[in-house]
Amino acid sequence: MTDRFTFDFPNAEIGASRLIHADCFEWLRRIPTDTIHAVVTDPPYGVKEYDSDQLEKRANGTGGIWRIPPSFDGSNRQPLPRFTALDAAERSRLRAFFVEWGSLVVNALRPGGHVFIATNAFVSQLVFGALVESGLEFRGELIRLVRTLRGGDRPKNAETEFSTVCSMAKGCYEPWGILRKPLRQGMRVSDCLREFQTGGLRRYLNDKPFEDVILSERTPRLERDIANHPSLKPQSLMRRLVYAALPLGQGIIVDPFMGAGSTIAAANAVGVSAMGVERDETFYELARNAVARLASLQIPHTDGIVGAHARELLFHASAAPESAAR
Ligand SMILES: C[S@@+](CC[C@H](N)C(=O)[O-])C[C@H]1O[C@@H](n2cnc3c(N)ncnc32)[C@H](O)[C@@H]1O
Repeated sequence: MTDRFTFDFPNAEIGASRLIHADCFEWLRRIPTDTIHAVVTDPPYGVKEYDSDQLEKRANGTGGIWRIPPSFDGSNRQPLPRFTALDAAERSRLRAFFVEWGSLVVNALRPGGHVFIATNAFVSQLVFGALVESGLEFRGELIRLVRTLRGGDRPKNAETEFSTVCSMAKGCYEPWGILRKPLRQGMRVSDCLREFQTGGLRRYLNDKPFEDVILSERTPRLERDIANHPSLKPQSLMRRLVYAALPLGQGIIVDPFMGAGSTIAAANAVGVSAMGVERDETFYELARNAVARLASLQIPHTDGIVGAHARELLFHASAAPESAAR
């Protein structure tokens, strides 16, 4: 099914899914109107942190937009992008980026197709506004409860003087946008489901609806060892999202900013089909090596997930991943 959309880009088939080495703007421009069923993605939030000059600075440990956090607890933390440093021009560039990207997504999606898009507390309002401007309908926010390592610090260089103050709230959640391509005029969700297999979100097998708060975890070490990408998302989260994104379990999910392929691995694990697009050659190769291995991991408590080894876990709907509960 996915081979129709490879065009002349380098690609690899992994299970029922396909990885494409391309710029997603170029790839999306070639997708026929009303084709794909859902988008689940984690874009470069600040737009520029995955530009090649910034990736080079990150690799050299010289900063750029990547903040090198201090090491503590005896371990060295991974660099994080510094979104608070976006100036007015960069915010305007970010808006333009998402308006253009959203317009391409609106064209490629079937009516009623959903978009799940990761953001962060600093830029979410900008990203959601730009996506609405591009023609997507805002359907709410998904809150991934996770300690993000951001905020909570005392005022810089005055830590002793203002020891009872934190400059900003400590980040304990990651906001994801839930958006949808508008239904055709006069269509109800049931019509859209019949004609396009889109329009709604899939209920878990235990009959529970998809919920917009997910008790999550930081990406476990085992997964990071398989796929060493600075923004790797955990399978426990991604499997829930890809499962919910196809209301009838039919069709194609696209991740235009694939990274190391956590969305694609999750799709393979729950038995749906996905396409991932990645511009950076190193990350594309990383995904080629990582997707099958991530997909084969047994992930406890991914409630409502279908797949090779998850059916027996369906009735743990309220259970959180163990590492998040600690
Ligand atoms: C935030 S990361 C996604 C990481 C992913 N969630 C994972 O679990 O590995 C964004 C990715 O988008 C890629 N990227 C940035 N701009 C792109 C573009 N125009 N087309 C395709 N990929 C792009 C970056 O190289 C980066 O790997």
